[in-house]
Amino acid sequence: MWGGRFAEGPSAIMREINASIPFDKNLWQQDIEASRAHVAMLGACGIVTSEDAETILGGLGTVAGEYERDGVPEDWDLEDIHMTTESRLAELIGPVAGRLHTARSRNDQVATDFRLWVRDTIDQTDAALEQLQCALVERADEHSASIMPGFTHLQTAQPVTLGHHLMAYFEMIRRDRSRFHDARARLNQCPLGSAALAGTGFPIDREMTAQALGFDAPTANSLDAVSDRDFAMEYLTAAAQCSLHLSRLAEEFVIWASQPFGFVKLPDTLSTGSSIMPQKKNPDAAELVRGHAGRIVGCSTALMVTMKGLPLAYSKDMQDDKPPVFEAANLLGLSIAAMTGMVADCTFVTERMRQAAELGYATATDLADWLVREAGIPFREAHHITGAAVKLAEKNGVALDQLSLDELKAIDARIDERVFAALSVDASVASRASLGGTAPEQVRKQVALARDYLGQRA
Ligand code: ARG
Repeated sequence: MWGGRFAEGPSAIMREINASIPFDKNLWQQDIEASRAHVAMLGACGIVTSEDAETILGGLGTVAGEYERDGVPEDWDLEDIHMTTESRLAELIGPVAGRLHTARSRNDQVATDFRLWVRDTIDQTDAALEQLQCALVERADEHSASIMPGFTHLQTAQPVTLGHHLMAYFEMIRRDRSRFHDARARLNQCPLGSAALAGTGFPIDREMTAQALGFDAPTANSLDAVSDRDFAMEYLTAAAQCSLHLSRLAEEFVIWASQPFGFVKLPDTLSTGSSIMPQKKNPDAAELVRGHAGRIVGCSTALMVTMKGLPLAYSKDMQDDKPPVFEAANLLGLSIAAMTGMVADCTFVTERMRQAAELGYATATDLADWLVREAGIPFREAHHITGAAVKLAEKNGVALDQLSLDELKAIDARIDERVFAALSVDASVASRASLGGTAPEQVRKQVALARDYLGQRA
């Protein structure tokens, strides 16, 4: 393609280090789509004749059909998807294929293709995240009043409802979707027509190509347009953050599925066995979601470090932008699907959760709050009195509400029998009805609002 000024061809190592076709063949659909828009514009502007434009469009259709059927051939001599397609086009329609690259460079071409690819991926990610949210809302609704221990420091803190816990993840995913949405809005400008870096002398119509490709507008500055990869980094940082949320959820499943917890039975379809220990059912999918988060964060770091310190405009370092994005997109897609299946199909062992909530003195704060409310004791003092009650219960090996009234009165005479109503886990969660709190009525409100947001009112 550029042999004119060279006396010798590239060495084997040059061919290998230079070839991006092994990975950028992923862009073939976007590459054909952008070429179609470009040549239609060249025809409409009279830069190529309409017959030539038609011939090229027909040829591109044939190449697309071949790729669809047989895959994209990988010839390192042709470097990348852009040259691979152009060379096949030339084999099919002859020298007229050479007119396609008028007023265009691979620099604006790859920037355009890659934006289109990331845009499609964001749309797919958003749809997948919506499915995960639907699964979370369904299970949260089912378990709006199921009691489990809430933790801080992974120590039993206060009883919460399982629905409340699941809706916390719904909120994280809501923010993830909003980040992808923001990234998409900024991404949606068309670099095509920026050419190599400085624009072109041909009378092109950039509005026309931008519109044909579904962009909001052409990019404003050609130097920026060919050297900007913010859209890819924004996608990756949003993906990284999303993967962290999935990883935290996965970690909950790993803990909950362990025998000492026994809060959840994982679906067989998302677990594996052990080759030596017949009793085992391992949470591999959840563990891999947790592991993948590390790789996705790595992809995001990789591209940022690649971009750091690049002068304007295009440098070949930027060819390395694609592998981390492709890898992250693949890993994130798998992670979302795995967690959606896990949430939808797991069995929550609500009796175990309830027992655990009852065991860990989870209603100690309720006792302290009762002392403040009913006996007018300052909170710090109430905290101290409650600590003594917990100590006694622990010594006797009983739950707080299993201490006798006499035992409680011996700790503080201001306690009376009404306290027992506040010490059950049900009373505890029901009392936390502040906005966004764990009470079943609040969870049902959150679920209803979530359904409005999802546009799927029950
Ligand atoms: N394969 C290249 C990439 O992905 C296309 C752009 C090549 N541009 C150039 N000036 N060599 O970045």
